[in-house]
Amino acid sequence: MAPDIDKIYQQAMVSIDSAVSSEELEKIRIEYLGKKGKITNLLKSLGVLPPEQRPLVGKEINALKKDFIQSVESRLNFIQEESLKEKIQAEDLDVSLPGRHFSRVGSAHPITLTLERIQSIFRNAGFLPVSGPEIETDYYNFEALNIPAHHPARAMHDTFYVDGGYLLRTHTSPVQIRWMEKTSPPIRIIAPGRVYRCDYDQTHSPMFHQVEGLLLDEDASMSQLKGLLDNFLKSFFKRDDIKIRYRPSYFPFTEPSMEVDIQLKSSHGLTDWLEVMGCGMVNPVVLTNVGIDPEEFTGFAFGLGVERLAMLYYGISDLRQFFVNDMEFIGQFGS
Ligand code: PHE
Repeated sequence: MAPDIDKIYQQAMVSIDSAVSSEELEKIRIEYLGKKGKITNLLKSLGVLPPEQRPLVGKEINALKKDFIQSVESRLNFIQEESLKEKIQAEDLDVSLPGRHFSRVGSAHPITLTLERIQSIFRNAGFLPVSGPEIETDYYNFEALNIPAHHPARAMHDTFYVDGGYLLRTHTSPVQIRWMEKTSPPIRIIAPGRVYRCDYDQTHSPMFHQVEGLLLDEDASMSQLKGLLDNFLKSFFKRDDIKIRYRPSYFPFTEPSMEVDIQLKSSHGLTDWLEVMGCGMVNPVVLTNVGIDPEEFTGFAFGLGVERLAMLYYGISDLRQFFVNDMEFIGQFGS
């Protein structure tokens, strides 16, 4: 090998071996094989050699060129493998590391908790939870429940009307009608759900929850209704000493109708009487409206306000607190 070729070869190998990036390697490739590259120049210089030397020297330079190209390629592979390894290492995730600590653990909303407790008490008494639409027709919300147009009872409902002749149900009682229409007695259902009235203050919210109850059988009686509600209120408030009072009232869909008041013991003695639900024997007019013979079946129904019960149970004085999503407030009632 001629000394020039030898020297260029040595230099090239040293540079290739010390290159650490593909960009650097590309520079080296141009330095040797570019238009004015060192190997290119060697090939160009063949022309000035005596003709008899050209084949031999030419062969040597070509061997150098081949060797050079191979070395660049293998170095490039090496660099790429190394950088891949580094990347994998840098992105390595230790899935066994403990997670970050969350100081706030989620909990169910007090209304959800109350609804669940109410349902579980009635489920134990054999009542099936069912539901109905929140957007109702005038027929189901009023008419079928014996509240015809212009009936004074409508004024109590502060109804939200929506387009197309629909309204937001003002109570869960329409579910009674829907259920009686599609099944036949005996019936034992409860219908928990949202209801809407155009009202807003410390004890009223435009959206609140009710649980409706309906029992229809051959011999449903008022004493059965009272027994059921007494037991419910005692187990809901988890105390036997709760005082319960049934007051005559009026609902167009029950006859006779009653309102149920309770009196609780507090640290200051007994509370005032507080109204917690409405109830009564299903009005024969309602049974006739759904095609059930009132001579054959009797029933009773009740409707209770979930927020009201939750306020009494937890000792909350402002109903609006349920709906402002203050995490400190709603997080304190357990899971
Ligand atoms: N729907 C009545 C209300 O919202 C409550 C009720 C239900 C009364 C069933 C009697 C029977 O005020």
